Formats: sequence, C-alpha cells, structure tokens
Amino acid sequence: MATFGHRLTVAGMPAVCMLRSVRSLVSGTQSCQNSIRHAMGRTRSTTGGQTNPRSCVTTLATSRRHLCSTGGVNAAANPDTEKRLQELRAAHMARGLPKQDAIDGVRHVVLVASGKGGVGKSTTAVNLAVALSRSEKSLSVGLLDADVYGPSIPRLMSLSGNPELDNNNHMIPLVNYGIKCMSMGFLVEESAAVVWRGLMVMQGIQRLVRQVAWSPLDVLVVDMPPGTGDAQLSISQMLPISGVVLVTTPQDIALLDVRRANTMFTKVNAPVVGIVQNMSAFICPKCSHRSHIFGEAGAERLAKEEGIALIGDVPLHMEIRQMSDDGTPIVVTKPDSPQAKAYFNIAETVARHLAAVQEP
Ligand SMILES: Nc1ncnc2c1ncn2[C@@H]1O[C@H](COP(=O)(O)OP(=O)(O)O)[C@@H](O)[C@H]1O
Ligand SMILES: [Mg+2]
Ligand SMILES: [Zn+2]
Repeated sequence: MATFGHRLTVAGMPAVCMLRSVRSLVSGTQSCQNSIRHAMGRTRSTTGGQTNPRSCVTTLATSRRHLCSTGGVNAAANPDTEKRLQELRAAHMARGLPKQDAIDGVRHVVLVASGKGGVGKSTTAVNLAVALSRSEKSLSVGLLDADVYGPSIPRLMSLSGNPELDNNNHMIPLVNYGIKCMSMGFLVEESAAVVWRGLMVMQGIQRLVRQVAWSPLDVLVVDMPPGTGDAQLSISQMLPISGVVLVTTPQDIALLDVRRANTMFTKVNAPVVGIVQNMSAFICPKCSHRSHIFGEAGAERLAKEEGIALIGDVPLHMEIRQMSDDGTPIVVTKPDSPQAKAYFNIAETVARHLAAVQEP
C-alpha cells in the first residue's frame, strides 16, 4: 500500500487518502464521505459548460421586461415580440444544457453500450479497440473504462498498477497491445469502487476523461456502465460522440433494454452505428456444431424495427471467455479464428462510419 500514495492524485487528493476514504465509506464513516465529496467538488471547474439555471431565469425575466418596455408594446398582443421571446427562451435553454467539450487530442469518441449488464460490452469494447488499432488504417486507439462500479478493463487487458502523472498533472494511461487504457480499477482496489454514488460517480468519470494524457488518439473507445441512468446520460451529453455501438444478446429481455438505450442515444443526438448481437450461437469446440441457446435472430428483428444496422454477430465461444479471463483478447491471440473475424468486421464498419463523421 505504501507504493500507492506518493505519485498519484485522484480528484485532487492523494490516492492513498482516497483509498482510505473509500474504505471508510464502506464502513460508513461520515466525515470521510464528506472529504471525498470535498475533493471531488474541487474538480468542478474542469467540468465546463455548467450554467447557473437561476441566473438564466433572471436574465430571461429581465429580457422580457426590457423587450416590453423598450418596445412599448404588450408582448402577448405582438407576434414579433412573442417570437423574439421564444428565440431568447430557446437560447437560454440551450445554454442550460451541459456543454460538449472535445477531449484534447482525441479525434473520435466511440461508446460501447447496452441496456443491460453481462451481455458482453467489455469483451466487445476490448476486442473492438484492438481490432481498430490493427486494421488497415492502423488507428491509434485508447480504451476508457467508464464502468466505475465494476471496472473490468484491467483484467481484460492484463494491466495493473497506478498511472504516473505527467508535467500537467495528467495521469498517463497504462498501455497493452498498443492500446492506451484508463480505468477506475487502476486507482482504487477492485472491491472499493462500488460504494460510489451519483455526483461522485460523475466526477470520477470526468477525471478519467479529462485528467488523462490521451493525446494523440484517433479513437477513444468507451466501455460504458450498463443501463440508461444518469451516468450514461451525462457521458453522452458531455462528450461529442462520433458513434455508439450497442451490444445485446438475442434474448427478449436484453432486447427491451437495448431499445431503451437506443432511445436515449437518439435523444441526445449520439449517432448509433449499429447493434452487435453477442452470444447468439454456441459453437461446440469439439464438433463446431452451432446451437442457438438464447434464441435466433432476435437482434436482427430489433434492428429492423428500430431502423438500426446489425453490424456484428459474435458467437458464444469458449475461447472468447477463456481469453478474456486471461487478459489476452481473442483478436490478439487468434486473429485468424472466425470468432476474431467477427470483431475485425465490426471494427471495419466502425472505421468506415468514423471516416464519414465530421470531427469535433
Ligand atoms: N461471445 C462470447 N463468448 C463467450 N463468452 C463471452 C462472450 N462475450 C462475453 N462473454 C463472457 O461473458 C461474461 C460477461 O461479459 P462482459 O464483457 O464482462 O459483459 P458486460 O461488460 O456487458 O457486463 C464474461 O465472462 C465474458 O468473458
Ligand atoms: Mg463490463
Ligand atoms: Zn459438439
């Protein structure tokens, strides 16, 4: 533990202190909870784009008075004035939304999301990231583990340890298979992250996004937390998103959730590249027989109904699970297998999509 503290600061406090605070959160010590909040609160200024809603209201009221008095007209009776008021109102509303700030030196952000946990988001994110970096265009790729409750990138990418700080006090990502990675799992013990709530989660994610030396990157792949809650919504609002990859299994229940996720991303104008159907068919490692354990073609149906492309079909294969557990992604260890090919195909589609997207 002694090696943990002296190099690194998280949310403005030394990691060793943070670790202690997180520990005492588990045991429910109030003052430590406050001290984490306090430290997280100090990162406020980095969030950017926040507008004080109260001052907006005041300005709007003042504008109305100003318009009415200078124009010398009754606003309700004059359509021009009413129109101008509506414009002002819209402008103020827009100011109230979180501002989308690009990440310095990062050309594209791609989210890997699902409405549900355990469908294979992290496995997809890892293999997609590596496949993108090994594609013809040999893109420079980063991988952000935004699942602060259950970070799995450290294990899947076979990485551990604490990030060093650069001269700007930014954390230097840990690198494996040519991918720059950042995860809450590098900063706190695996069992500790789950006690975070609400604002703390958001500010933790802000740190992982903004206080990291990502540059230069062509693509930052984000392994999203499961679901469509506040954290997911804020991430998709605070970053300019080039594309979203939705992951689902063919089961009805997972499909319902992915529908919800699609609605959320559509609402915040984050373009959905398509759906990856994961674990659709089980391929027997002995005789290569395919069986459709979770039903067949569920995602195909959903894709059609929602008007989204089906961009991949990854079989349920023992090697994918095994190699994930070993921290050696299948696209690295068996790039020529049909399982890995499925990921390379997805990467190709994503790369094509990115080439057509205007950079932020
Ligand atoms: N196509 C697949 N074939 C076999 N196992 C898989 C496949 N995709 C994911 N898994 C396994 O399923 C479990 C959950 O996957 P994970 O990527 O962690 O899901 P999520 O990030 O959505 O919670 C892991 O043990 C993983 O190795
Ligand atoms: Mg995961
Ligand atoms: Zn068999």
